[in-house]
Amino acid sequence: MSSNKLNWSRRSTFILAAAGSAIGLGNLWKFPYMAGENGGGAFVLVYLLCILIIGLPIMMSESLIGRRSHSDAMTAIGKAAADSNGSKNWQAIASIGFVCVFLLFSFYSVIAGWALDYTVGFALGDFFGKNQDEVEGLFDALLASPARLIGWHTVFTIMTAVIIMGGARKGIEKAIAVMMPLLIIILFGMLVFSATQTGKFMEGVHFLFNWSPEKLKDPSVVISALGHAFFSLSLGMCAIMTYASYMQDDIPITQSAAWVTVLDTLIALAAGLVIFPIVFAHGMAAGSGPGLLFVTLSTAFADGGSLGTVLGVVFFFLVSIAALSSSISIVEPVVRWTIERFDVSRKAATVSYCGLTWLLGLATVFSFNIWSDVHLLGGEKTPFDLIDYLVSNILLPLGGLFIALFTGWVVSKNVSREQLPELSDALFHLWHFMIKFVAPVAILLVFYSVIAE
Ligand code: PHE
Repeated sequence: MSSNKLNWSRRSTFILAAAGSAIGLGNLWKFPYMAGENGGGAFVLVYLLCILIIGLPIMMSESLIGRRSHSDAMTAIGKAAADSNGSKNWQAIASIGFVCVFLLFSFYSVIAGWALDYTVGFALGDFFGKNQDEVEGLFDALLASPARLIGWHTVFTIMTAVIIMGGARKGIEKAIAVMMPLLIIILFGMLVFSATQTGKFMEGVHFLFNWSPEKLKDPSVVISALGHAFFSLSLGMCAIMTYASYMQDDIPITQSAAWVTVLDTLIALAAGLVIFPIVFAHGMAAGSGPGLLFVTLSTAFADGGSLGTVLGVVFFFLVSIAALSSSISIVEPVVRWTIERFDVSRKAATVSYCGLTWLLGLATVFSFNIWSDVHLLGGEKTPFDLIDYLVSNILLPLGGLFIALFTGWVVSKNVSREQLPELSDALFHLWHFMIKFVAPVAILLVFYSVIAE
């Protein structure tokens, strides 16, 4: 063990930080509306399968590659390749990841900005007593205002940058230690509310777990579920690999990855079980798309008197901290790589990258107003839709595919085995089989079904 290795200061930090990365807008905003749009249970089932068969094995791969080298993702992949007599070209996987960093953070910060705006809006009573049309009007007014969107996008980018500048231990670890318990307590409180006060809890349960197989004939449901599994677990772009590079050598990777996966899944399901009963209790529809939180759920809060207002503040605060605990992990991979590779300070790297993604984020901001008629590639997608689609449905699964192929076919079994001593031989071979054959074939099949559509 080299003494200058930078580890998390606590053994539990990797799980907490990786769960903080995984749990974010993906769980609280995207998962519920995607389940709503794609018919509930059918989507949830495919999503859960993707998590188990593809997500968990890839999370273990990213973790072992990162942990064994204790360095940035690019170097980590290079080392794993060199130690297995493989080609250094596999480092290109990290390049895909770094492209994702910029694209993903650019829109993530804008959407997180909506949550900040709503936290303040509810606190100021802007929503109190408003009906659905009026709440929709407030949302439309926010989207129509580049200045407001840019303002919140700026605030969120700065919050992220400040934490990252503190470094792994003094910035990320400290922030996570406050944010994660808060997040779990708030969500649990809201779950109790939804279960006891809405009278529609079972309808929510039924909606999320009743799966209608005919929906699965639509390949777009399957690609969305797969893409979302990567998005939600923060896989395919070296975020988990980077966090694992700070992990102590004697921590079992399998259990840690399993914990992160289970926590992420439970929180997505809990978010669905908070949101849908409240939405159904107000006689509203589940399939309203990205506006599910910001219009449908918010109308329910607006209709709920003072209690509704408090719930609104608490809920959007929850979304904001979940987003922040993820956004730091989105930017950290490139920051870590830059400071290790070049003679640059953490501060300078963070400021430059956050500045760059802030600029890119303007494309998302303008997609909702002055560029809302700009439809790229002859389709119906605005620049924001396109960036989201590119990252979630193409680049993250592609990054995941390469990580699976790399670990399954290039990294020698001895190299992987050293990092997974906790597994019995049988389980190790099962993991290796999943990563070598099952995960790549599944990802390729999903890609194929979309191209062939
Ligand atoms: N998992 C995060 C979420 O669900 C998003 C994310 C993706 C974070 C990829 C890091 C890397 O919101």
